[in-house]
Amino acid sequence: MSTAILLGTARNGGNTHQLAHHIADRASAQVFDLADYIICPYDYSHNNSGDDFLPLMREVLRFDNIVLASPIYWYSPSSAMKVFLDRWSDLLTIEKGLGRQLRQKSGAVIATGANAVLTPCFEEIFQLTYNYLGMQYKGILYCACEEDILHPQHLLHSFAMDDFVRKLHAG
Ligand SMILES: Cc1cc2nc3c(=O)[nH]c(=O)nc-3n(C[C@H](O)[C@H](O)[C@H](O)COP(=O)(O)O)c2cc1C
Repeated sequence: MSTAILLGTARNGGNTHQLAHHIADRASAQVFDLADYIICPYDYSHNNSGDDFLPLMREVLRFDNIVLASPIYWYSPSSAMKVFLDRWSDLLTIEKGLGRQLRQKSGAVIATGANAVLTPCFEEIFQLTYNYLGMQYKGILYCACEEDILHPQHLLHSFAMDDFVRKLHAG
């Protein structure tokens, strides 16, 4: 199973960036950093359809697993990730063919936050979105970053990481 990780964070080289790349190394996944693309906010008139969103999605749809990686900012995905997710509505309107392809894909989430325990509403946003689009949901890998730092021990093999990578490889 091939895996694309879409990274949306306000901090290049920060906690989510490090975790996403660590999982990419372990799962032989490809990381797409949303900061490298011009993705405009959702527009009902689709005047933004010439930006990077559709070409990026065409590339991402070559993979079996689509993993969205975001820090938790105020119990929510980062603004880059939210703008990206809003644009998935284009796949239900002007690019329905691409939207239908999502039904054969699996989704998962990588997240970092300061809280010791993951806030459930954060995961629900992704889980409900994947369900709505007919995608299989493979779960979330959450890394609690005390004092705002991703400690090296977080990147050691852990049961949660092993389990997450195993789920990505599984059909
Ligand atoms: C604007 C902002 C809001 C945040 N809100 C939360 C939050 O609601 N819950 C939480 O656990 N951590 C919160 N944090 C902490 C970040 O999620 C945490 O430091 C994360 O690892 C940062 O990842 P990054 O380096 O990719 O930005 C917040 C941080 C910022 C900058």
